[in-house]
Amino acid sequence: MIYKIPVISGDGIGPEVIAEGKKVLNATAEVHGFDLEWIDYPHGADYYLETGELISEDTLRELKKYKAIYFGAVGDERVKPGILEKGILLAIRFYFDQYINLRPVRLLEGVWTPLRNKGSKEINFKVVRENTEDFYIGIGGRAKKGFSKDELSIIRELYRVKFDLDIDSDSEEIAYQVGMISKEGTERVIRYSFELAQKSKKHVSSVDKANVISMYDFWREIFEKVAADYPDVRTDLNYVDAIAMWFVKNPEWFDVVVTPNMFGDILTDLGAMIQGGMGLAPGGNINPQGTSMFEPIHGSAPKHKGKNKANPIATIWAGAMLLEHLGEREASNTIVRAIEQSISKGNVRTYDMGGSSKTSDVGDDIARIIREQERCEVER
Ligand code: IPM
Ligand code: MN
Repeated sequence: MIYKIPVISGDGIGPEVIAEGKKVLNATAEVHGFDLEWIDYPHGADYYLETGELISEDTLRELKKYKAIYFGAVGDERVKPGILEKGILLAIRFYFDQYINLRPVRLLEGVWTPLRNKGSKEINFKVVRENTEDFYIGIGGRAKKGFSKDELSIIRELYRVKFDLDIDSDSEEIAYQVGMISKEGTERVIRYSFELAQKSKKHVSSVDKANVISMYDFWREIFEKVAADYPDVRTDLNYVDAIAMWFVKNPEWFDVVVTPNMFGDILTDLGAMIQGGMGLAPGGNINPQGTSMFEPIHGSAPKHKGKNKANPIATIWAGAMLLEHLGEREASNTIVRAIEQSISKGNVRTYDMGGSSKTSDVGDDIARIIREQERCEVER
């Protein structure tokens, strides 16, 4: 079996962490008897500065052939904030309608958490972040005092929505953003969460801010409707501020947490910290019927670029999620176990985990563990 995997390593520390991800996935493929062919794409800050291209329609169309993309990180000091993030990362999420952002919050064996008296048994749940709607649809603008007009539209395969705004304001200047959730878009991500919970602890927690933002009344309504189809799954409704508190106080309560896009963005950085830090948090941008993308949830950390210093574990783990998505569950488990073994040994750790190992040392160590395990299996 040969899997072709397009790779966008991006900029900042992206290429360094992706190199370790490839290293570990290659070792795993060898051991599990399949082949990986990496197809590298140059998109990121340098490419943008050289060519003016973020990611073209042609490239996106080409990527449609594949089931999963491996993604590093984008964001660069030479480019205005948001240009690369929206023009590449969000462009891919939207183009491929990757409506699920699956982010495990799991404290691996041997990892330090800032939460006292909590261990890997207590910190082990999944955040399912809606990934295409809410305040991320990218429509908003500014208006100066007086009358003005704006036309905002979003065009998706799923639906098309147009807002015609007549603005009459006596404020000197305003900025506005339209948040929107659709019935179709909300229902599908919530349904995915219930399906996931059925394979797990049969508990889904919903996140919203329905006490203030009425758009989330609609989220609640849809959640309750979908929940009725899964009578064996336990549910609860949570305001985002409260659940942020419970993530810290009682993470063991959670199994699957389903959240609108922006709250999910914020909550998963909190989740990352309780699972040991940004260097340990992977994610999948999933379209179950289309092209998905797997990436660390951290950014490009330009200040660490080129120093062989950043923690590659989030990216390696994202690679494990990618393999699982391709149907290589055993291989995926092998990687996560090897990450845990490497961490538990304790002699190879990057700076963020209190060590002084290099990015490449971590990849080497995990790849070595995977190859050695195989040797033991064969000897037995
Ligand atoms: C993330 C990031 C992105 C997001 C940014 C870079 C657009 O913060 O993947 O969590 O907001 O989704
Ligand atoms: Mn984020």
